[in-house]
Amino acid sequence: MIRARINTPRRRIATIVSGVVVGAVLLAIGLTACSGDNGAGVINTVDTIDFVNPLAIPPLAESAVNAAGERVFNLTAQAGTTEFTPGVHTDTWGYNGSFLGPTLVAQRGEKVRINVKNDLDEVTTVHWHGMNLPAEMDGGPHQVVEPGAEWSPNFTIEQPAATLWYHPHPVGTTEHQVEMGLAGLFLLQDDEEAALTLPRSYGVDDIPVVVQDRRFDTNGQFTSNVRGYIGAIGNEVLVNGTLAPYLDVTTDVVRLRLVNASAARIYDFGLSDGRSFDLIATDGGLLGETAPMTGIRLSPGERAEVLVRVAPGETVKLQSTAPDLGTSAKASTSNAGDDRLDVMELRAADQLDSAGEVSTTLANINPLSKADASVERSFTLNGYTINNRLMDMTRIDETVQAGATEVWTVDNAMPLPHNFHVHAVQFQVLRVGTEPPPAELSGWKDTIYLEPGVRYELIMQFSEYTDPDFPYMIHCHMLAHEDAGMMAQFVVVQPGDTAGTPPTAHDAIVPKSNLALGSGPRALSVDHGH
Ligand code: C2O
Ligand code: CU
Ligand code: CU
Repeated sequence: MIRARINTPRRRIATIVSGVVVGAVLLAIGLTACSGDNGAGVINTVDTIDFVNPLAIPPLAESAVNAAGERVFNLTAQAGTTEFTPGVHTDTWGYNGSFLGPTLVAQRGEKVRINVKNDLDEVTTVHWHGMNLPAEMDGGPHQVVEPGAEWSPNFTIEQPAATLWYHPHPVGTTEHQVEMGLAGLFLLQDDEEAALTLPRSYGVDDIPVVVQDRRFDTNGQFTSNVRGYIGAIGNEVLVNGTLAPYLDVTTDVVRLRLVNASAARIYDFGLSDGRSFDLIATDGGLLGETAPMTGIRLSPGERAEVLVRVAPGETVKLQSTAPDLGTSAKASTSNAGDDRLDVMELRAADQLDSAGEVSTTLANINPLSKADASVERSFTLNGYTINNRLMDMTRIDETVQAGATEVWTVDNAMPLPHNFHVHAVQFQVLRVGTEPPPAELSGWKDTIYLEPGVRYELIMQFSEYTDPDFPYMIHCHMLAHEDAGMMAQFVVVQPGDTAGTPPTAHDAIVPKSNLALGSGPRALSVDHGH
C-alpha cells in the first residue's frame, strides 16, 4: 500500500557524511557498523494480530487541593507483575499500579504538587517531559529519589493545553526503568482549548494512546537482547499496556493522543485503509489549524493529537507503516525502519454520537522571530556525543539568560537515527534543511527527529525561572543513547550571572522534611482534576 502525505511529502535527504568520516566515528565509539543487523530482521505484524483485548485507559490520577491552593497528586513507583497475556505474569514496574501510571490532569494557571514515593529497590527520578518549570522541580538526573524516599516537587502550570508525559530520568538507567513500565501522561487544559469544539471526554472520545514496543522471552518476561543502533526494538506493541488492543468507538470523531513512549522505535502512524486524519496538536499543544495527513512520524518522546473519523459499524486499524528514517536503506532496515505494525483496532458502534462540527482553527500561536533572538547555538549529535562531549553530571554545557529568545541549529552527523529533546521549553521549528517546516513541525515541539545530514533550525524563548546551579537536560530521547551519555546540561540564569556548580547526586536528594508542605490538608476539594 502506498500512502502519500496529503500536504507534507516526505523528503528523502541523502546523507552528507562521507564513508571515511562514518568509519572513523564508528571506530571512535566502539561500534560495529550496524549493530542492529544481528538478528534484527524486519518485523511485519500487519493482519497477523487478533485484537482480543479491550484497550486499557490509564485511570485519572486522584488529586486534592491543599490549603496552599496546590492540586496535590501522589505517585508511588513500585514493582509488580502484569498479565499482558492471561496466565503469564510479567515482572513490571508502575506508578500506583503494576504498569504505567495514572493520568495527571491540571489546568493552566493551577499550582500543582506531586508527592513522589520510591518503593523500588533502586534510585529513580520522575521527570515532567514538556513542562516549563523551575529546574529543581524538573526531575532530571540530579533529583534522585532513593529507595524508600519521597520527593515533592511543586510548580505552577504556565503553558497551553497539551499532552505531556512523565517518566524516570536517572543517569544510566532510564531505558531500563521506562521499559519496566514507568511512564504516565500529564494532560494540561486551558480556556483556549476548552472553547473549541473538540472531543474531550477522557476515555470516551479522547483517548490516550501510549505506544511501546516490547519483546517477551519464553518465560513471558521483557527482554531486550536484540538491538538496532537506536536501541532495543520490540516485536510486539503495547498500547496503554494492552497487547492486541481494540477500542470501542462510540462517536463519529475520536481524538487519539499518540505518545511514542518506546525506548527507541520510530513509528509512522496512520490508518489501515489509508484514510486521512486531522493532526490537531503536537508535543506542546494545539496547532494553529488542523492539518490533514495520512501518516505522522513520531520518534521516542514525541506526541501527536489526531482526530479520526469513523463510520457506523466499521472497523479500521491504527497502524505504523515503515517510517522514513532519512537513512540509507541498510541502516533503515536494521533500525526498524522497514517494520510494519498493527497497533490497535478501532471498532465503531452501529450508532455513533455526533461530535458536531469540530473546530479547524485551533490555537493562536505567536511565531517566534529570529530578529528577537539574542543567542545562536549549535548542537551536533555524533556517536553518543553532543558537540563531541559525553554527559558529565558536574559540567554545565550551556548558560542561558532568563527570558532570552535563542536560535538553536541541530544536526545529526551520523548516518543513523537520533532525535533531540530540550527540557523546560517548547520550541518552534524555523527550518528543516532549507525548507520551512512541514505541518507536523509547525506547532510547539520539545522533541524532534533528526534525519541524518539535515540541519534543524529551532527557535525558543526561555522562561524566567533561574537557577545557576541546577541544570536542565538536552538529550537524544533514544533511551539507550541517553543512558550512554548522549546528554548535556544547561542552566538558566539572570542576565549577567554565570553558571554555578551542579549539585552532586547526594545533595540532590530532597530530605523527607520538605514533604511537610505537600502532605497538607486535602479538605478543600477532592476531584479528578477535570
Ligand atoms: Cu522525556 Cu529528558 O526526557
Ligand atoms: Cu523532558
Ligand atoms: Cu541518539
